[in-house]
Amino acid sequence: MTEMTIDKEDAATDGLAVRISGLRKAFGAKTVLSGIDLEIRRGEFFALLGPSGTGKTTLLRILAGLELPDAGTVLAARRRTTVYQEPRLIPARRVLANVILGLPAAAREAGRRALAEVGLEGYGRAWPATLSGGEAQRVALARALVRDPEVLLLDEPFAALDALTRLQMQELVAELCARHRPAVVLVTHDVDEAVRLADRVVVLREGTLAVDQTIDLPHPRDRNSAPFVDYRRLFLSHLGVVPASH
Ligand SMILES: Nc1ncnc2c1ncn2[C@@H]1O[C@H](COP(=O)(O)OP(=O)(O)O)[C@@H](O)[C@H]1O
Ligand SMILES: [Mg+2]
Repeated sequence: MTEMTIDKEDAATDGLAVRISGLRKAFGAKTVLSGIDLEIRRGEFFALLGPSGTGKTTLLRILAGLELPDAGTVLAARRRTTVYQEPRLIPARRVLANVILGLPAAAREAGRRALAEVGLEGYGRAWPATLSGGEAQRVALARALVRDPEVLLLDEPFAALDALTRLQMQELVAELCARHRPAVVLVTHDVDEAVRLADRVVVLREGTLAVDQTIDLPHPRDRNSAPFVDYRRLFLSHLGVVPASH
């Protein structure tokens, strides 16, 4: 996958973590993505918003190098890692072993630090089955963090959590990303989540990118503030949902 790599020294991709141009992807007769052009800067928190079945996961899988496009070019920084909706832990391995899976044993200390960063200090010897859903997802975050990603790919990572845990996890991800500054590609169907977290939101609709909006609000963001409400209305309308007036 060397042809996919963006090098930091390359003047043509200066400051970019992702560059996609003319991307097309079809499964059989069904075109899922077409004519996608997208650049994401290093350190940018980018959200891709779209209803289910629009190709968000397909785009992430292409960025992860797990799927090949039918046309177009996809360049991305070398160190990329994904967090999925499910934590995907190996049940027969303890938490720390899951965090450093595939890394040399020397990564144990970094693994412990990553666990502490996600609020799971001392959980290294626990078994995955003893964790709550939120804790398991924190382990998945630690597993991503320890790889020091240049691009962090998040595929609806909060969707399976209860509402309160989801808010706590969003806060944690915001804090970790502000500290480590990877480029983030957050895929979500949750408008408020995108507006709360992202520097920039793009709507994926019918295979193309429908709107590209910078979210210029300080953190933490108040869902009830007038600009937040305006962004929510903008994205809902692009998603084809007309918010009820009240
Ligand atoms: N490997 C595959 N083979 C055939 N169809 C697929 C495959 N992966 C995804 N699709 C189809 O592509 C469309 C987009 O899927 P996906 O990227 O998972 O959407 P999203 O993540 O936005 O819900 C769906 O219609 C899905 O059924
Ligand atoms: Mg998906």
